[in-house]
Amino acid sequence: MKHSLLFTLLFGMILICQNTNGAERKLIRISTNQTDLILQVGENGRLYQSYFGEKLRHASDMEALSWDIHAASDGSVSQRGWEVYSGSGNEDFFEPAIAITHTDGNPSTWFYYVSSTQQPVPGGTQTDITLRDDQYPVEVTLHYVAYAEENVIKTWSEIRHEEKKPIRLSAYASAMLYFCRNSYYLTEFSSDWAKEAQMSSQRLQPGKKILDTKLGSRAAMHMHPFFMVGMNQPAQERQGEVLMGTLGWTGNFRFTFEVDNVGNLRVIPAINPYASVYSLQPNEVFTTPEFIFTLSTEGTGQGSRNLQAWARRYQLKDGMGDRMTLLNNWENTAFDFDQSLLAGLMKEAKDLGVDMFLLDDGWFGNKYPRNNDRAGLGDWEVNRTKLPEGIPALTQAAQEAGVKFGIWIEPEMVNPKSELYERHPDWAIHYPNRETYYYRNQLVLDLSNPEVQEYVYGVVDKLLTENPDIAYFKWDCNSPITNIYSPYLKERQGQLYIDHVRGVYNVMRRVKENHPATPMMLCSGGGARCDYEALKYFTEFWCSDNTDPVERLYIQWGFSHFFPAKAMCAHVTSWNKAASVKFRTDVASMCKLGFDIGLKDLSADELEYCREAVVNWKRLKPAILDGTQYRLVSPYEGNHMAVNYVDASQEKAVLFVYDIHPRYQEKLLPVKLQGLDPDKMYRVEEINLMPGTTSTLKAHGRIFSGDYLMKAGLDVFTFGQIQSRVVELTAQ
Ligand code: GLA
Repeated sequence: MKHSLLFTLLFGMILICQNTNGAERKLIRISTNQTDLILQVGENGRLYQSYFGEKLRHASDMEALSWDIHAASDGSVSQRGWEVYSGSGNEDFFEPAIAITHTDGNPSTWFYYVSSTQQPVPGGTQTDITLRDDQYPVEVTLHYVAYAEENVIKTWSEIRHEEKKPIRLSAYASAMLYFCRNSYYLTEFSSDWAKEAQMSSQRLQPGKKILDTKLGSRAAMHMHPFFMVGMNQPAQERQGEVLMGTLGWTGNFRFTFEVDNVGNLRVIPAINPYASVYSLQPNEVFTTPEFIFTLSTEGTGQGSRNLQAWARRYQLKDGMGDRMTLLNNWENTAFDFDQSLLAGLMKEAKDLGVDMFLLDDGWFGNKYPRNNDRAGLGDWEVNRTKLPEGIPALTQAAQEAGVKFGIWIEPEMVNPKSELYERHPDWAIHYPNRETYYYRNQLVLDLSNPEVQEYVYGVVDKLLTENPDIAYFKWDCNSPITNIYSPYLKERQGQLYIDHVRGVYNVMRRVKENHPATPMMLCSGGGARCDYEALKYFTEFWCSDNTDPVERLYIQWGFSHFFPAKAMCAHVTSWNKAASVKFRTDVASMCKLGFDIGLKDLSADELEYCREAVVNWKRLKPAILDGTQYRLVSPYEGNHMAVNYVDASQEKAVLFVYDIHPRYQEKLLPVKLQGLDPDKMYRVEEINLMPGTTSTLKAHGRIFSGDYLMKAGLDVFTFGQIQSRVVELTAQ
C-alpha cells in the first residue's frame, strides 16, 4: 500500500513536471507570405503539427490551435496522426517517419522536444528544431527553410546518436505532413525512356499509395520525384488547394501517402529504404534529402510559379544567369564523325545563330573505341582516329567559327570493354558470385568508394582544366544500378544505394566549386534525373530523348509543374517529320532552345525560318526564361495547348499555341491570356512565320488592353493538324 502511494506520488510529480513543461505549449510557426505550418509541443513534451494551411492573419489565433483537438472517431482524444516526426513503436499505428533498431535490439523511438531556433537566411527564415529520445541517446534535428515571397518551404532532417555501437535505420524520412480534409487526389508523374512526366490522377483511398523507384542511378526513369495532392478535388490549374512536393535526391526515393482510419492523410517523402537498412555509427550524422513543397490555394498554376521562381532564385545552378542556345550532333551523326565534319557543324551552328556547338557521345576511347554503345565508357581520352588533334583542335575550330564549344560525358559509368574495367574491375558495382546483367552494355562505377570518386572527379577536372575553352558540359547517366553489390562496402551493403548517391554529389559539388562558371546539362537517357539536389550543380536538364514535338507538348507540360523553362532543354530534331520544322521549333521555343538536326537536311526556307526563330527566342528570353509562366490550355484536356509567359515588367509577353489533332467542326474557344497588366495596351503580332507567309491571325498587328486579352482572349486555335502559332505582345 505504502509502496503504491509512493509510486502514485512520484508518478504524479513526474506528470506535473511534464505538464509544467508542456504548459508552455511551445508554438513554432514556420510561415511564408501565404502559408502557415504551425508546430506545437504537446502536454507530453512531444512535437505535433497543429496547423498547416493558409496563413493565419492574427498571430494571437495560434493560441487557439491545439494538436489534441483532432479527436479520434471513438471520441477519445488521440495523439495519433499529428506527430511531426513520428518514430516506430510509438502509440501511432500508421507509417512512421523514422524506424531505428537500437543497439539493444529495441525497435522503438519516441522523440521529445528539446529546443528550437529561428534565423533569417537568404529569401526566408530557417527553423531548426531538436528532438531527443528519452530512453536512448538518439537525436533528430528538423530543418525548415520558409521562403516568404515564393511560398515554398524546404525541409530536411539530421539523425545522430551516441549509442555504443551502430544503430540500424530502416526508415529515415525527410519530413512528415498531415492533412485533415474530405478527400485527397494524387497526381503522379510516371515515366519511362522517351515517355517522361506523364501525368495521371487518382483519389487516395484508405491505406497506402507509394510512389517509388529502385533504379539507383538512372533513378527517376520510371517515376519522377515529385507529386501533387489536390485537397477535396483533383488538382486544378487555377483554383483549389494543392500540395506540390518534390524530393531533392538523385537516387531511390519513396513518397508514402497514407489515409488512416479517420480519413486523415499523411505524406512521407523519403529516400527509399529498399535494400537499405543503414548502419549509423555513433556521432555520424545522417542527413536526409531536402523535401521542397508549396501549398497553393490557387491551384497548380500558382504552385508552379512559386516553385519556378524559387528554383531560379535559390536552388538551380546559376538560376538567375543566362542560357546558351546550341547545336548538338547526336541525332544527326550519332557516333560517326571526325574533326572536319565537326568543324563543318560548328560553322553551321554559327550560320544558324546559336551560341554553341555541343559534341555528344563517341569522341573517346582508343583501345576500345567508342564507335557504338558497347565499348569505351571509362576511357576519357580522345579517340585518335576520329580526332587526331584532340580537343584543342575542336575548341580552336569553334573559336574560328565564332561559337562556344561544349562536350558530352558519362563519367559515372564503365563498359566492361574498356581499359578502365581491365584495370579496376572492382570499381564497378557488380555481384561477386552471380552472372552479371547489363543495361545498355555498361556498369555503374561504385561511387561509395572514395577512390572512385577521386577518379571520376579527376576525369571531369582534367578535361576542364586542360581545355579551358570547354564552355559547357552535358553529363549523362544511362544505366540504373544493376547487380547491386559494392566490392568496397563489403558487409555494409545496406549503405550502397545511399552512399553511392552521396559519392555522386561529392563529385558534382567539387566540380561546381572548382568550375563554377561552366554551365552543365543534367541528362540521364533523357529525363531520368530531374531533381532539385542535382540541379544545385546543373544549370539545366535534358527532358527527354523523345523530341517528337507532339510528345514533347505533354512531356514539357508535365515537367513545367515543377521546373522553370530555363532549366528544361528542348531541341529541334527530325523526330516526327510529319510535323513541320516550324511546329518542332515552336515547341522547343517554350523551353531552353537548342537544335539537334542536320541543317543540310533543311530547305532554304526552313533554315531561314530557324534563324529567325533563334533571333526571336533570344529577344524573348526575359519572358520565357526569366518571366512568369501561365499554362492556359492543357493538351490533356483536348486537342490543343496554350502557354504564355510574361516578363517581370509586364511589358513583353509571348503566347505559344498548338493545334494537335483537332476534330472536325469542334468548338474552338478563344485563349485568355494571364499575367498581363490589365491597364496596359499591348500590340499583338504573330512571329515565327515561315518565309513568304503572312499571319492569318485576325488580331495580328492590332492593339488590345491587357484586360481584354485576359477576359475576352484571342482566337488563335485552328482546325489545322499539328500547327502552331507564336504571338508576341508588346506594351505600347
Ligand atoms: C543518352 C542521351 C542522349 C545521347 C545519348 C548518347 O541517351 O539522352 O541525348 O546523349 O545518351 O549515347
